[in-house]
Amino acid sequence: MLEFQNITKIYESKNKQVVGVDNVSLKINKGDIFGIVGYSGAGKSSLLRCVNLLERPSNGKVLVDGIDLTQLSSSELRTARLKIGMIFQHFYLISQKTVGENIAFALRAAKTPKNEIHKRVKELLAMVGLTDKEDVFPAQLSGGQKQRVGIARALANNPSILLCDEATSALDPKTTLSILKLLKQINEKLGITIVLITHEMNVVKEICNRMAIMQDGKVIEEGAVYDIFAQPIKPLTQEFINSVVSFEIPDEILKDVKGQVIKLLFKGEVAGEGVISDTMQRFDVKGNFLHGTIEYIQERPLGIFVMELQGEKSTVDEAKKYMEQRGAVVEVVKHV
Ligand SMILES: Nc1ncnc2c1ncn2[C@@H]1O[C@H](COP(=O)(O)OP(=O)(O)OP(=O)(O)O)[C@@H](O)[C@H]1O
Ligand SMILES: [Mg+2]
Repeated sequence: MLEFQNITKIYESKNKQVVGVDNVSLKINKGDIFGIVGYSGAGKSSLLRCVNLLERPSNGKVLVDGIDLTQLSSSELRTARLKIGMIFQHFYLISQKTVGENIAFALRAAKTPKNEIHKRVKELLAMVGLTDKEDVFPAQLSGGQKQRVGIARALANNPSILLCDEATSALDPKTTLSILKLLKQINEKLGITIVLITHEMNVVKEICNRMAIMQDGKVIEEGAVYDIFAQPIKPLTQEFINSVVSFEIPDEILKDVKGQVIKLLFKGEVAGEGVISDTMQRFDVKGNFLHGTIEYIQERPLGIFVMELQGEKSTVDEAKKYMEQRGAVVEVVKHV
């Protein structure tokens, strides 16, 4: 498990201080794929760099499996760092070395016996699908392939945690997807905990099970990805969610709607359409769909419908109550 306890990072530059991370406490469970989301400058990289102490926090503790890394001697820290792999947006491969040598470099740094290095390089290349690229130089690879080398290198010393700082931001959507699939495979097969920074909610939706949203150095919301997608609380979180699953009804349309407008949320296995049609049959209300979608998040369906309800106020209220009893989360978007 990875735990941040009251982490603050203050950067001192000439005559002013910049707060990069502001008192963040966060627990990341073993086996999580944990997404950290936020706009530029929110403090995501600063926080991530505190995990392996590339950046020393000004205050607070970083616990990896219960051990406070900030208290380790420099040689203990070197050993601990081997168990924390990291990949970056711009890959940072050594351009004068072949793919195989780039990976071998990480193994040598960990004092892997010479006669084991080549075998391990081959294993790692197979894991990331680059068996035929061992003797090629980074310049001869596509962005996606470069990131695969980055991943192989990060996994060289069997880390328990893999940190990814905008690892797919330089890639096109299709390549992004293939890298995310690889990361998920690594998480499932090797049980490696992944902490992933991104400003793209699609990335989170694709592979993360839990997430946190950062703003001005603080974590403003955190939880299971499914729950946050279903009911984001903070305006910034809503903004991020809306960028991938938008349920906003244009004002021009809302203006012309006469009845009450409600948003219905059906989580998991509750079949939304069935509940809605039962409601329409039972109550003397007229329903008008304005928007409807079923999203799959973590392979769990999330049904979202926006509809207008016309009828007597008391009947409309009863209908809403009935839908709630049937498992819907009902939110009024516009009163009559
Ligand atoms: N080495 C540094 N020296 C001074 N200030 C820094 C340093 N690194 C980061 N900061 C400041 O700390 C704040 C958080 O930066 P950070 O790089 O962690 O944000 P981020 O969320 O990763 O942004 P991005 O999405 O652009 O990568 C910013 O205000 C930034 O200017
Ligand atoms: Mg960053």
